[in-house]
Amino acid sequence: RIEADPGTGPGASLPPLDLPAARAARCPFDPAPGVERARREEPVTRATLWDGSSCWLVTRHQDVREVLGDPRFSADVTRPGFPFLSAGGREIIGTNPTFLRMDDPQHARMRRMLTADFMVKRMEAMRPEVQHLADELLDRMTEGRTSADLVAEFALPLPSLVICLLLGVPYEEHEFFQERTGILLSLRSTREEVRTAQDELLRYLVRLAESKRHRPDDAIISRLVARGELSSVEIATMGRLLLIAGHETTANMTALSTLALLRNPDQLARLRRDPSLIKGAVEELLRYLTIVHNGLPRVATEDVRIGGVTIRAGEGVVCTLNSANRDEDAFPGADGLDVGRDARRHVAFGFGVHQCLGQPLARVELQIALETLLRRLPGLRLDIPFEDVPFRHDMGIYGVHALPVAW
Ligand code: HEM
Repeated sequence: RIEADPGTGPGASLPPLDLPAARAARCPFDPAPGVERARREEPVTRATLWDGSSCWLVTRHQDVREVLGDPRFSADVTRPGFPFLSAGGREIIGTNPTFLRMDDPQHARMRRMLTADFMVKRMEAMRPEVQHLADELLDRMTEGRTSADLVAEFALPLPSLVICLLLGVPYEEHEFFQERTGILLSLRSTREEVRTAQDELLRYLVRLAESKRHRPDDAIISRLVARGELSSVEIATMGRLLLIAGHETTANMTALSTLALLRNPDQLARLRRDPSLIKGAVEELLRYLTIVHNGLPRVATEDVRIGGVTIRAGEGVVCTLNSANRDEDAFPGADGLDVGRDARRHVAFGFGVHQCLGQPLARVELQIALETLLRRLPGLRLDIPFEDVPFRHDMGIYGVHALPVAW
């Protein structure tokens, strides 16, 4: 626990860091220079958000873990002072918040209904199925061709197929929900666009949940319906969180990891020589790339002292995961990619009670996707100049919009 000391005033020697500008300035693989500077010079500093309001930015590995592990920092989106991390953020979670944006005991009650579905053993048992899907996608991608967009043909469909299977959502409708998900995650979307996409996705999932009452299957949504504890809207809200999280995260990690390895040929060669490094390499890539680059929002419920600064009750805090994962005190040589490093203490999946529920699934998918890709395409290379790669500066989850590759 962080020791409370309301007597000390805030340290604000640096000008408030403009978070929207910092997002736009993220270097291909590194956090924005302003965030790096904050970690070195004033690790808990003031920042300005999309709506012009201000909050605290926490940048060191140790401090980020302390905040995320301390119940005096709330993830409840309805609390005054909660920091919104995009222009349409209030709309995204303002109505029908998911358990991601609730505190215990409500959060724990909802999360418990899913823990068995995402536990390590269950996900590990899916390996043969995920491997089969990965091979099928690569068969299709490479048949009679020597180039393709890796995002559209492999990195996105793989986790999309898997999450649809787990949830019981028909994959044939992927264009509908992928498009809505894109709008929800885009920092450029207007409030109106966000509200519409949000409603359409929710209505679609409510209808799906209703249909499972008459035609049950053994996938997650149907089993939530059968429990009889949640309304269709609550189930749809949970399904929406899983659908979005299940798609966009692993897809972007797969594409960005491939690009990072192509840009670090020594590490790529090492991994190719010794595929048994894959598990550790995936943890290192999660640390190095930290795709949840918006950081994690919380609001203090009491005065709490952290990193020499007193955060007052009601003040918003953003934990910058990408800065924490580049903290030299936690990871010596943090700015380098080292597939042999023990990176398990990274915070790419968050920390504390909200730590990523889907991480066992993400690990299985990433390990299989990268191992299969490298094994099957020994001549894999980028098919456009690196400068032309369309990085997702405009999205809450970092990655690339497309990745043209050849082999
Ligand atoms: C939570 C990252 C994949 C489902 C989180 C959080 C992070 C994260 C940082 C914490 C949010 C917070 O504390 O505010 C990632 C990354 C992924 C990934 C980097 C892939 C590389 C997945 C997948 C799923 C998933 C595949 C599942 C379908 C969730 C859920 C939560 C969550 C349900 C909320 C947990 C809670 O509030 O208790 N994820 N995630 N994630 N993630 Fe993931």
